[in-house]
Amino acid sequence: MTPSILERTAPAKTILCGEHSVVYGRPAIAVPVSTMRARASVLPGPKDSGLVIRALDLGRDFALRNVGQDQPLARMAHLVLESLGAPEPDAIMTLSSDLPVASGMGSGTAISVAAARALSAFLGSELPPEVISALAYEVEKIHHGTPSGIDNTVIAFEQPVYFVRGAPPEILRIHTPFHLLIANSGIAASTRDSVAEVRHRWETAPSYYNVIFDCIGAIAQAARAAVDQGALQALGVLFNENHELLARMGVSHFQLDRLTDAAREAGALGAKLTGSGQGGNIIALVDPDTVDAVRQALIAAGATATWHAEIGC
Ligand code: PMV
Repeated sequence: MTPSILERTAPAKTILCGEHSVVYGRPAIAVPVSTMRARASVLPGPKDSGLVIRALDLGRDFALRNVGQDQPLARMAHLVLESLGAPEPDAIMTLSSDLPVASGMGSGTAISVAAARALSAFLGSELPPEVISALAYEVEKIHHGTPSGIDNTVIAFEQPVYFVRGAPPEILRIHTPFHLLIANSGIAASTRDSVAEVRHRWETAPSYYNVIFDCIGAIAQAARAAVDQGALQALGVLFNENHELLARMGVSHFQLDRLTDAAREAGALGAKLTGSGQGGNIIALVDPDTVDAVRQALIAAGATATWHAEIGC
């Protein structure tokens, strides 16, 4: 009999407002992008093989017993086994993803959440979202030392969240769905470096950066109300203002400014960088009728890929 393959997935995410300042305790809003997904499948392996992890996008296969826990996927596998009190199974776990890496869409977290779901399901005890989120937070610390926790939360719960570090996440109900165009600048950027640079600047001039963080926190609060009321014009203005403040914080990039300008000129209600910046993606809030025009403008301005996401449908 052919053994059955067990598959689990996890979504991409995008931050609507509040990246970076969320690390310093201010609120932020993030939403899952459910049409883009990371996948993990597990099937039984040969006797005494232990767990073999096949990371297709990395072009790498490795046995859990041969790698240290500084490898994020190995760390997640160990965390799942510890949580369940289960011995290492003889199994093959295969991972793949639609998400661009190093772009602010949470690719590393989505892969580790999919892996945790699939491995725990294979072991007969699927872990709940809050546990998966906590495990993914531990793994994220490998990627950058001081994660706020927003990425693991939005991806593990797969719900829009209003997030304040250290507080239980609040799930947002989106009554009026809205459309985002996500555009990749083609510039790979490291979350670790960007977060470390902001920390360094904050340490050098704390009162200046605290004011920026406070302003962005106020934007996130206003954005929450705008999302709640379906006030999309207002949400667009808040995107623009958030982008300005991120640029002042030093995490924008010439190409991100170019893409956000192009989106606005082509009729987007607002646009901003999303995630840690210095490269990666921008998001543009668009009316369904302007999706094509904004997409063309983004490509003409150098976007290497675009994705259309309907949020809250
Ligand atoms: O992983 P990214 O690029 O989406 O960045 C995460 C958001 C930050 O606020 C920059 C960092 C964090 O831990 O919240």
